[in-house]
Amino acid sequence: MKNLRLGVIGLGNMGKFHADYLVQNKVPRCQLTALASSSQEKLSRYPGVRHFSSGEELISSGMVDAVLIATPHYSHTTLGISAFEAGLHVLVEKPISVHKADAERLVESARRTGRVFAAMFQLRTEPRYQKLKSLIDSGELGDLVRVNWIITDWFRTESYYSSGGWRATWSGEGGGVLLNQCPHQIDLLHWLCGTPQRVRGFCQFGRYHDIEVEDNVTVYFEYDKGTTGLFVTSTGETPGTNRLEIAGTKGRVVLEQGRLTFTRNETDMQVFSKVAKSGFARPDVWNIEIPSENAQHQHATVVQNFVEAVLDGSPLIAPGAEGLKSVEFANAALYSTWTNQTVSLPLDGAKFESTLLEIISKSTHQKRKSTPSVATDFASSFIR
Ligand SMILES: NC(=O)c1ccc[n+]([C@@H]2O[C@H](COP(=O)([O-])OP(=O)(O)OC[C@H]3O[C@@H](n4cnc5c(N)ncnc54)[C@H](O)[C@@H]3O)[C@@H](O)[C@H]2O)c1
Repeated sequence: MKNLRLGVIGLGNMGKFHADYLVQNKVPRCQLTALASSSQEKLSRYPGVRHFSSGEELISSGMVDAVLIATPHYSHTTLGISAFEAGLHVLVEKPISVHKADAERLVESARRTGRVFAAMFQLRTEPRYQKLKSLIDSGELGDLVRVNWIITDWFRTESYYSSGGWRATWSGEGGGVLLNQCPHQIDLLHWLCGTPQRVRGFCQFGRYHDIEVEDNVTVYFEYDKGTTGLFVTSTGETPGTNRLEIAGTKGRVVLEQGRLTFTRNETDMQVFSKVAKSGFARPDVWNIEIPSENAQHQHATVVQNFVEAVLDGSPLIAPGAEGLKSVEFANAALYSTWTNQTVSLPLDGAKFESTLLEIISKSTHQKRKSTPSVATDFASSFIR
């Protein structure tokens, strides 16, 4: 195969964004050959590309080698599995699925069919996160002590939540801010610091909006070596904060407003504490500003990497199977809230699924009347 024939499924906010750069041939060796949407009007904006009224038709058309799935979350699993079964490679939007059991079905289908499976976690292409990762992986930060991420600048209005029938309902979306806005940050937490062992979630449902899912969340979590974590998020706070702070025995790194700063202990805290003569002594520190540029085309870079994985066997930036971790963490935070207990990971995916189905069956929430989405500022929500 010289070029990859790619089809995009879904032409909402995200699918349109992908289709626009792909139709301009912004990704080398990637040919946009097909689009699927139930809207003829949306499809008509892309002449010269084969149109299908559903993802299922596109998958069985023989027009593509791979699909990029940009539909509401539940269908990531069903469309993804259909695509794998049809022998296609899959790049799926985040979250890879709504819940762990579905994510496992999707991952298993990829494994069994041996197709390339990638997830759209484009923040992994941002140099500031890559530098942070190499700082941690190289041991520069020492043993991790504490990780705190306050990401409360996801403000959304009632108009946003009423813009799509599927949004912010248990049956249509399966969750709120943890599943829609935060999969990127939760993915980065796992990519940077690994998988926690225990999760205690405090989710508030419809606190700021007329919705039934969570829009204000605090999650406390712990790793096996005792490292503690706090993840705080909201779509009801403005101006909000985006501050990631990771403390290690060799110093502390803070990422806020795009600035990455490292306060480095001259001596590892554990060594210093044992040898210092004074009870109030502290190690001297160096203040280091770590420069980084913004990635230019986060999404296109992930697609390019996907194309290279299929055509050349290159390693993936974000393997689809790793998307299971952020789904599990979000599920665990919800499950912990529902049961008022700390959840040990791995989460029981079947139990979570049956609880979610029960909540769906008992839901009496009336969704606000849908209004057309005005998404002029959609792309500005990417840079984090
Ligand atoms: N990576 C990112 O930065 C990013 C940003 C926003 C959204 N997303 C993800 O993209 C997905 C879509 O979000 P959105 O904001 O574009 O939603 P949206 O409601 O604007 O668009 C979804 C579209 O999918 C279509 N659709 C549904 N089922 C389909 C099917 N079977 N075949 C063809 N089309 C189908 C709908 O008609 C709709 O037009 C979500 O999972 C979301 O989490 C990712």
